[in-house]
Amino acid sequence: MNEPVSSNIVRADGHVDGPARAANLGHASYTVWFTGLSGSGKSTLAFAVERALIDRGVAAYVLDGDNVRFGLNRDLGFSPEDRTENIRRIGEVCRLFQDAGMVVLTAFISPYAVDRAQVRAIHPKGRFVEVFVDTPLEVCEARDVKGLYAKARSGEIGEFSGISAPYEAPVDPEITVDTSKPLERCVAEIISALGL
Ligand code: ADX
Repeated sequence: MNEPVSSNIVRADGHVDGPARAANLGHASYTVWFTGLSGSGKSTLAFAVERALIDRGVAAYVLDGDNVRFGLNRDLGFSPEDRTENIRRIGEVCRLFQDAGMVVLTAFISPYAVDRAQVRAIHPKGRFVEVFVDTPLEVCEARDVKGLYAKARSGEIGEFSGISAPYEAPVDPEITVDTSKPLERCVAEIISALGL
């Protein structure tokens, strides 16, 4: 659904646009969208990039999948419909952060390519940067940091991404991260690709 259910609503325009807000903060603004399997290292990377950007004086902020599911999206589970709604809401929040002039980084599995494309579509050209955290399933499962893969294999958890639910890897992401490299190198590559 792309049209609001409300009728009789009219867009209000302010006196400052996105580029002016970014100029005010002194750097380019982006939505940096990390996608990958559970345990691939999305949160670790996003938080490390946030730390490095803040150290450079860049206004950065992480929206993390697990964290957002404690608040804004606490009403959502892991059915395909709920995941789509999860990503839709976060995409809209990202667009607001990006329009505010910030660099917002996300760490969501975001398994469906069409949902990620929808988030890209609501951003100005070049402001949405998709980062594929390309850690193979075998590696994520061997790490099993949260013990969830074992539960997914035993059937205790259903609809688990990569095991009993799909994960559609990006076809043409702006950045692909090889997480077998040291974290600091991955962070440096992302910051350099963003030109920040
Ligand atoms: S998404 O698919 O809707 O993008 P999201 O990133 O918000 O997922 O949440 C994924 C996190 O929820 C995982 O890192 C894991 O900790 C937890 N989780 C719990 N159940 C599942 C499940 N069935 N599939 C994937 N992740 C799950």
